[in-house]
Amino acid sequence: MTSTLDNTTAETAADLVAGFPFPFLEDRYRYSTNVEPAEQPVTTPAGQWGTAVVDIDSEYRAELDQRAVTLAADPTRHAVLPHMVPAAWDAMFTLMRELDAAYPEQMQLRSTGPDEWLWRNDILGIEQHFRYGDATTLPDEPLRYITSQVQEDIALLDQRNDQLFVDAGVVTFAADWSFGFDVGMSFLEIHGPVPRVRKEGVITRAHEFLKRLQPHQPYRRTNWTLTIDRRLDVSTEIYPEWGPDRESIQLVDDAEFGRRVHLRVEVQHLIRLPDSGAVMFLIRTYMLPLEQLATVDPWRRRAAEVLAELPEDMADYKGIIKYRDRAAQWLRDAAPTPPAPTGP
Ligand code: HEM
Repeated sequence: MTSTLDNTTAETAADLVAGFPFPFLEDRYRYSTNVEPAEQPVTTPAGQWGTAVVDIDSEYRAELDQRAVTLAADPTRHAVLPHMVPAAWDAMFTLMRELDAAYPEQMQLRSTGPDEWLWRNDILGIEQHFRYGDATTLPDEPLRYITSQVQEDIALLDQRNDQLFVDAGVVTFAADWSFGFDVGMSFLEIHGPVPRVRKEGVITRAHEFLKRLQPHQPYRRTNWTLTIDRRLDVSTEIYPEWGPDRESIQLVDDAEFGRRVHLRVEVQHLIRLPDSGAVMFLIRTYMLPLEQLATVDPWRRRAAEVLAELPEDMADYKGIIKYRDRAAQWLRDAAPTPPAPTGP
């Protein structure tokens, strides 16, 4: 298992390439209300992704360790507004069911009596008896408890007055936004800074869609950006730690550039929780360095086209405007060299 704690990229485990959710369906990328039913496997030139709502890979322990460190250092990454306590239980329980269904060998949720449950996570050596809704039977607040066992970040949205509000969550791997700042804000307010989407109706359509979302019909979408180094926490809170890399990356040589610049993809699941009626938003972050991406030739070619063509306002908003041209060129230059012609 590789470790991401020091953000190094020395080695990318094979499963991270095979399970990478390459996000580009064509050579051009624009924002859209790109939602589709979840739990439909997608076959890629390198493998497959998308079988389950929760996904465990070889970074499991490393990412959970990282989340614990971040939460200990900054309590604002975790919030559950008082009216969201039932939704937090609902989210925890729904995720335990999903883990049990997806990883039955290692994860089990068993009923032991009315409202009494036994949760086992054999990867982490956890065996926990609890009573649903009784906080004294868990070692931690339920949302925080379950986010210490899944790689996904979680936001919970309350629906009231025909609007959705981000009123709870544990988010430690935010890509250039701040959960602590956004908590309590409406879905429409949160998307205010995104260019184009208001005018094009992307966010209002998404809002209408989410308000009609039904339990037991999970949906998913992807989003993407570029990140320097395998750094999961690129939140606004710690911008001084990672922001300057966007400048300094322009000065490194090509080998270092390919090793350090990562295509970062979020697989986001949207799930109406059955008991509380809240909407659960799961954000699972995947990263692959350009040098690994380039080993899958259809990915290399397509990512180069998308990065070169991306309009300035979108590249600017994503924070990649200063190095996306170089990233596109790097990928083009990484084309496999054709075999030398053999003589007669
Ligand atoms: C950013 C669309 C659901 C929170 C964005 C962006 C798009 C988008 C296009 C810009 C991304 C980029 O350029 O990298 C959508 C759609 C959704 C959806 C179509 C549902 C179908 C949600 C939900 C949340 C959320 C449920 C709840 C937390 C955010 C945040 C940002 C963002 C915090 C960053 C905003 C900023 O710059 O401050 N979204 N989103 N999104 N989205 Fe969503």
